[in-house]
Amino acid sequence: MPISYNEKNKIFKLDTSDSSYIFEIYEANFLVHLYYGAKIPDDNVSNMKFRDNLPAFNPSDPDVMDITFTADLSPLEYSGEGAGDYRVSPLAIKNSDGNDVTDVRYVSHKIYDGKPEIPGLPSLYLNDISEAQTLEIKTEDKTTGAVVTLIYTVFSNQPVITRSVIIENTSDKPFEIERVFSTCVDYPTSEYKMLDLYGRWLKERTLQTHKLIHGIQSVSSKRGVNGHCHNPFAALVSLDANEEYGEAYGYNLVYSGNYSIDVEVDSWGTTRFIMGINPEGFGWKLDPGEKFYSPEAVMVYSNKGIGEMSRAFHRLYRKNLICGEWRDKKRPLLINSWEAAYFDFDDDKLVSFASEAKKLGIEMLVMDDGWFGKRDDDTSSLGDWYVNENKLKGGLGSLIERINALGMKFGIWYEPEMISPDSDLFRAHPDWYLHVPNRKSSLGRHQYILDMSRKDVRDNIFDQMYSVLSKYNIEYLKWDFNRNLTEAGSALLPKENQKEIFHRFILGTYELLGRIRDTFPKLLIEGCSGGGGRFDPAMLSFTPQIWCSDETDPIERLTIQFGTSLCYPDLTMGAHVSACDRTGLETRANVALWGTFGYELDPNKLTDEDRKEVKREIACFNKYYDLIHGGDLYRLINPTDNLFRCAWEFVSPDKKEALVTVVTMRRPESRVLILKLKGLDPEKYYIDEDSGEKYSGALLMNAGINLTETAFRDGESVLKHFIEA
Ligand code: GLA
Repeated sequence: MPISYNEKNKIFKLDTSDSSYIFEIYEANFLVHLYYGAKIPDDNVSNMKFRDNLPAFNPSDPDVMDITFTADLSPLEYSGEGAGDYRVSPLAIKNSDGNDVTDVRYVSHKIYDGKPEIPGLPSLYLNDISEAQTLEIKTEDKTTGAVVTLIYTVFSNQPVITRSVIIENTSDKPFEIERVFSTCVDYPTSEYKMLDLYGRWLKERTLQTHKLIHGIQSVSSKRGVNGHCHNPFAALVSLDANEEYGEAYGYNLVYSGNYSIDVEVDSWGTTRFIMGINPEGFGWKLDPGEKFYSPEAVMVYSNKGIGEMSRAFHRLYRKNLICGEWRDKKRPLLINSWEAAYFDFDDDKLVSFASEAKKLGIEMLVMDDGWFGKRDDDTSSLGDWYVNENKLKGGLGSLIERINALGMKFGIWYEPEMISPDSDLFRAHPDWYLHVPNRKSSLGRHQYILDMSRKDVRDNIFDQMYSVLSKYNIEYLKWDFNRNLTEAGSALLPKENQKEIFHRFILGTYELLGRIRDTFPKLLIEGCSGGGGRFDPAMLSFTPQIWCSDETDPIERLTIQFGTSLCYPDLTMGAHVSACDRTGLETRANVALWGTFGYELDPNKLTDEDRKEVKREIACFNKYYDLIHGGDLYRLINPTDNLFRCAWEFVSPDKKEALVTVVTMRRPESRVLILKLKGLDPEKYYIDEDSGEKYSGALLMNAGINLTETAFRDGESVLKHFIEA
């Protein structure tokens, strides 16, 4: 059983495939955290709570007899506010007396098979109830009547624990939640490096690593979405950790709105990690009898290095996050019109793209931005989701018929949460966008953001989308989002609820996304936000793939795809071969093969030689699809560590096949490249498909393969395929 409770010692033990997580009910019903790390058979770890015998200046609950125990010095399972624990805290509730002292203690618990859903929020799911058990711990702040339930789901065959929190107001007066984090983990030391993913537009999810220091280190967003600048992912890894070695604790928040990850090293050199909704700009009024649900935190543990942590995330998200038929079905090979034409297209141009693409082996044409209202640039028409017949003569039906007649599928672009001031929708409903009274609203790309907390707004957008999606043979939808939130207020919400708008906005977005997904279960939805500005596990539960970045230069893409791979699997990363000429087509394709793969260029402009090359690439896409998207990723040379080269490898789960990609970013100082492979079976023999040479897995992993003669110049790359002999 993954979860056990030791009655005698009052100890909870949560065992995943590779990790144990242990805490106890202590005096005065404090929940004290004892251990999180590699799996251990026993639970005799109560001594772990002793941190120091220095109660001076650390006030403590008078009901606790143990004089060595103070809230600030003890590892706590979930803490409150203003009651003696001075570290970053996951919970603060302002009560009807006007103060925010919050102190929750254990009341009761239950353990059951399976995993609960979180109302209104996406979360991981089980394929079978036997995959996980759940522990619900009821805690309470007796003064406010806040009942706070801590939920832990423990996966028995994966190194995964998920956590979330429910707050219920059991009093007869409203209170305000000022802060609620989804997880809180106290570590006994600060001997860790923190890994996180920073970036900007065109440079999303770049890996940075830094040693923990005293004080608070934090990554967060208050943009309304998680944005390009930081991803809701972080890991704490042992100081000696690398791809294959050491401990790694990976954390990812299943949420697309404002989030915060705060890591504090206190004066005693112990570390607290909390992750959840960003308290800045957040507040939630909870009336008597109401409940508030936090998003889900995913915690993955590995003691076989950072690479194994990533592979565990990949397996988990492939199996327990991506929903619907596109989880297992081969994704269509598409060509997108954006970088080929931007806003400058008509029906004939799109048909010509489709017709040329078909000859190359491409399966779907995606018509990007510019098909609706009177949109010829980005200054108008968002919200007017009816076809621009000046551009698409004969309308959408006729265009799709022409494309389908070529044997090509058809996909379309939407930006459902946006509204242009120059649109019929805005003229009809000038209060439907997010704004606050007596203040000018900022514009981003000439557009405002719809108030997704309003049902009337969502119904209108749903109806407009439904009338298009239900009428025509549309098999793919790109769901874009091209600015961050400002002046976030809702015309409908009472004053005392205005601080709820960021969270209500995201809940509204999920409701609309869910309605579209569930009404059109065969539709493949690709998420996008100026590239990868909204790349998170919550979006992935609606959109099985996300456009990784507007940066399609393959060399720039390397750090983006490497960073993304820290927790997101390859098939979630939208990646296309574009017209960018920094490298030849081959390298552009070798990099895009890591992701969903597709094209984003004008196929009419390809030379005969290019066409031959594109056909070869498409053959590679088909040949390696299962190996890449069902295989295990090994990062061999990381482009944030190595200025010259970058390399990665996919190994099939049965270890019978491996595919290695090397890209030379800049001509290296030394020509020599001996690459040691990873993840193979040392006992098996493999054939190098290019040379026909036979090598043992042990040789390939220890001596390596000599690639000195290949991919030497800037922008060159090589793909090496090994199959079991
Ligand atoms: C965003 C996307 C692009 C494209 C444009 C259209 O920037 O990332 O791929 O769809 O919008 O306006």
